[in-house]
Amino acid sequence: MQRDIQEVLYSEEQIQAKVKELGQQISRDFEGRNLLVICVLKGAFIFMADLVKNVTIPLDLDFMAVSSYGASTKSSGVVKIIKDLDVPVEGRDVLIVEDIIDSGLTLSYLIDVLERRNALSVTVVALFDKPGRRTVDLEPDYKGFTIPDAFVVGYGLDFAEKYRNLPFVGVLKEEVYS
Ligand code: PRP
Ligand code: MN
Ligand code: MG
Repeated sequence: MQRDIQEVLYSEEQIQAKVKELGQQISRDFEGRNLLVICVLKGAFIFMADLVKNVTIPLDLDFMAVSSYGASTKSSGVVKIIKDLDVPVEGRDVLIVEDIIDSGLTLSYLIDVLERRNALSVTVVALFDKPGRRTVDLEPDYKGFTIPDAFVVGYGLDFAEKYRNLPFVGVLKEEVYS
């Protein structure tokens, strides 16, 4: 697995430090609110787990599974809800947790769904942002790192469902995906 990685972009230590910082910021900003944290499966599962350990205010969690990529490396442009939330979002301050924003299609779809369900507020935290690939106008409220347009895997990010379990984020060797 490690031998498929060309270069480590963010080490486990760098990621953990950033996640801690984000958790502290969110704790301050959402004090006294009715916080519902939504993990966008599958990619955000590790980030979500580490993030909420650094959030010191009360919160509820829920999970949503959406996919626009499937096994392909290119977005199909069609977002599908594979697993919906278990709880209503009406009147809740919703925080969407994403591992990465690429084209922005997944998030713009999700924000739209949650707003139409009358969430009180919809906020986005994304650990990684690839602004160079954006096709819809969208900025996360909280962001970890801005990354170049390389094929990155690890810390939840997959290539054909593999590499999610790497504790760091690295660039995949071209020979692996070409
Ligand atoms: C990846 C990633 C984001 C989305 C970002 O998910 O986890 O959710 O793509 O791309 P976008 O901004 O172009 O929509 P994917 O659809 O691969 O599903 P996964 O989380 O299960 O890997
Ligand atoms: Mn995803
Ligand atoms: Mg994926």
